[in-house]
Amino acid sequence: MKNRKFVNPVFPHFVHGADYNPEQWVKTKNIWDDDIRLMKEAGCNEMTLGIFSWSVIEPSEGVFDFSFLDEIIERIYSSGGRVVLSTPSGARPRWLSEKYPEVLRVSRWGQRYHFGERHNHCFTSPAYREKVKIINAKLAERYSHHPAVIAWHVSNEYGGECYCPLCTEAFRNYLRNKFENDIEKLNDAYWTTFWSHRYSDFSQIEPPSELSDMGIHGLNLDWRRFVTEQTIDFMREEIAPLKKANPSIPVTTNMMYDFDGLDYFKFRDYIDFAAWDCYPKWHSGDNAETAENAAFWHDFYRSLKMKPFFMMESTPSQVNWHEYNKLKRPGMDTLSSLQAIAHGSDSVQYFQWRKSRGSSEKFHGAVVGHDGTNDTRVFRSVRKTGEILSLIDEITGSMVESEAAIIMDWENRWALSDSQGFARYDKKYTETLYSFHKFFWSHGINCDIVHPEDDLSKYKLVVAPMMYLINQVSADNLKKYVREGGILISTYQLGMVDENDLCYLGRTPGCGLDELFGIWREETDTLYPDQKGRVKFGGQEYSVIDIAEVIHSSHADVLAEFSADYYSSFPALTSNRYGKGKALYIAFRDNGDFINDLMSVIISDAKIKKNIPSDGSLPYGITAHTRTDGENIYLFVANYGEKNTVILPLGKPYYDIIGGKTISDVLLKPFDFFILKTER
Ligand code: GLA
Ligand code: ZN
Repeated sequence: MKNRKFVNPVFPHFVHGADYNPEQWVKTKNIWDDDIRLMKEAGCNEMTLGIFSWSVIEPSEGVFDFSFLDEIIERIYSSGGRVVLSTPSGARPRWLSEKYPEVLRVSRWGQRYHFGERHNHCFTSPAYREKVKIINAKLAERYSHHPAVIAWHVSNEYGGECYCPLCTEAFRNYLRNKFENDIEKLNDAYWTTFWSHRYSDFSQIEPPSELSDMGIHGLNLDWRRFVTEQTIDFMREEIAPLKKANPSIPVTTNMMYDFDGLDYFKFRDYIDFAAWDCYPKWHSGDNAETAENAAFWHDFYRSLKMKPFFMMESTPSQVNWHEYNKLKRPGMDTLSSLQAIAHGSDSVQYFQWRKSRGSSEKFHGAVVGHDGTNDTRVFRSVRKTGEILSLIDEITGSMVESEAAIIMDWENRWALSDSQGFARYDKKYTETLYSFHKFFWSHGINCDIVHPEDDLSKYKLVVAPMMYLINQVSADNLKKYVREGGILISTYQLGMVDENDLCYLGRTPGCGLDELFGIWREETDTLYPDQKGRVKFGGQEYSVIDIAEVIHSSHADVLAEFSADYYSSFPALTSNRYGKGKALYIAFRDNGDFINDLMSVIISDAKIKKNIPSDGSLPYGITAHTRTDGENIYLFVANYGEKNTVILPLGKPYYDIIGGKTISDVLLKPFDFFILKTER
C-alpha cells in the first residue's frame, strides 16, 4: 500500500515556484507577459502572490481593488500554473498606521515606532486584528474556490515583540490566568524575594526589558511563552476567515532558519503543513558543515508535522542580507534545492521570481534579473532543477522514516541562554544539537528533530543534549521511552531547572532523572576557550572543551573517565540499564571525535539502519537520505564537497531515475547527486 501525504491532494506534484510581486510592475504590463512566458520556460508551476500587496488591494480604508490579483491569478492558471496566496499582514498600508496608531509596535525602550519597514505590527492590537480579518475574509471569499489556489501562506515570517500598553495588559492577563489570580503563586514561581523584587499585584508586572527587570528568569521565560502564544493567537484569527470560506485549502506560515524568538513547536497544531525559508551560507567555509546545518532545519520542519513540508523560500543565487553575499557556485543551486527534497520537502520555491527595481531587495538573487531574460546562468540552473523535479515527480508526498531522533526544546534554549553562569554569553545549545546531528548526517542515517513530550516509541535511539530545563512530563516521557526498550543519550546540564526556571533541589538531574541515568551531579566546571581537559575512553584519549561535570555513579556503569585535573578518574560517560533499555550520560563537551566514536558503537548496538552500508562515516561531504512511499525507497546521494570526487558502492542495485538505468555504484564529482529507487 502506498503511503503518501500530499500538502494538497488536488495538486499531487512537486511545487516549483517563487515569491512573485507583479504589483510592482502594473505600469509595465509587458513585464507580466515576459514573466508568464519565462515561468513556463523555467519549469515553474507555482507563484506565491500577495505577500506585500495590501496597499494595492486596499488603497484606502474599505476601498478594495483586486483587479491586479484577478488578472495575474487568471494568467498564471491559464498557462498551467498554480498559486499560493498570502494574507498581507506582514506589511500594512500607510493609512492604517495613520488612522490606528495602536497597530504600531512599541520598542523595549518604550518608544512607539513610526510607520515603516515590515513585520512590525502589534500582535495584540484589536484594530489590526480587525483590519486583517476583513482583508483576509475578502481574499478568501474571492479566491479560495479558485482552482489555481493550492495553499494559504499566512502573513510573512512572524516574529518580534511589542511592549505597548495593550501587549503589557495582555501579558498581565496571561499571568493572572496562569497563576490563578494569586500573586503569591507568581512570587513563589519567580523567586522574587531575591533582591526584594516581590510583587503585590499583577498590575505591577512589566514585560522584561533593560528598563525594568531582566533578572527574573521565570518572568523572562513567561514573556517568551506569551509572545509565542500571542503570535499564534493572532495567526489563528488570520486563519479563521480562510477556513470559513473553504476549509479544504491547506494553511501554512513561512518560518525561519534557526529562529530563537518563537517556539515553533507550538505552531504545529494550527497549520496544515510546515513551510520555511532556507538561506544557508553556502561556500562561506566548510560546505559540508553548511549542508549539515541546513539539513538539521529541513529535518526539523519535516518532523514538525511528520509529513512533507515546503521550502517556501530559497535564493537561486545570493541573498542581500548576509554579511558577505556570495553567489552560489555552479551546481549548488540545484544541489541545495534537491537537498530539501531529500529531507522531505515537496517544494523548491525561491525568493524571488523577479528582482525588484528599487528599494532594499533590488540586489537580492532572483530567477529573473534586471536584464529580464532567460539567458543567465541562474535561469538555466532553475530550469534544470525544474526538469529534475518533473522527472522525479512520483516522489511527491512520500515520507521520511527515521529510527533516530534528536530532542530540541525552545523553552530549554531560552532558559539556558538566560542562565547566568557556565560560559556566560554562549551556551552553544544549537551547536551541540548540530554536533550530534552531524553524526547521523555523515553516516547516511535519517534523523527526526522532536519535542521532549513527543511520542518517542518509534525510535531506536534518542539523543537529548543539554536538557537543562525539563518538566516532569518530559522527564516521565524519557523514562517511559527507556523503560520500554529505547536507547537514550543525554549530556551535561541535564535536569538543572524546572519549568519556572527554578533549580531542582536535592540531587540532580532532577525529576527522577538521576534514577534513570544512575548518576548524580556535584559540580559543573567551565573551561576558558583555549583550555582543554582530557577523557579516556576505550583505550583512547579525547579532548574536553568548554564544559565538564563532576558526577558520581550511583548505579550506572562507568564507560569513560576524566584523565586530567582534580576530577581525574571521575566518570565522564556512564550507561545505565533501565527497564528494557538504557540511558547514557556524557559529562563533557568534545570537539566531535568522541561523539563520533561513541555513536558509532551505539548505532551498531541499537541496530540503526544506514541508507548505504559503510564502515564508519561516508566519505567527506557525501550524504545519503531516503524517502519512501511504502512500496519504494528513494535514495538521495549527494556530494557537498567542493573538491573531492568519490566512487561510492551502493551495496545493491538501484534504478537511477534521472540517468534511466540500473546501477550499483555512483561516481560523485563535487556537487553531484543521484536520485535512486529500489523496492522496499
Ligand atoms: C525573508 C522574507 C522575504 C525576503 C527574503 C530575502 O525570507 O520572507 O520577503 O525578504 O527574506 O532573503
Ligand atoms: Zn503591542
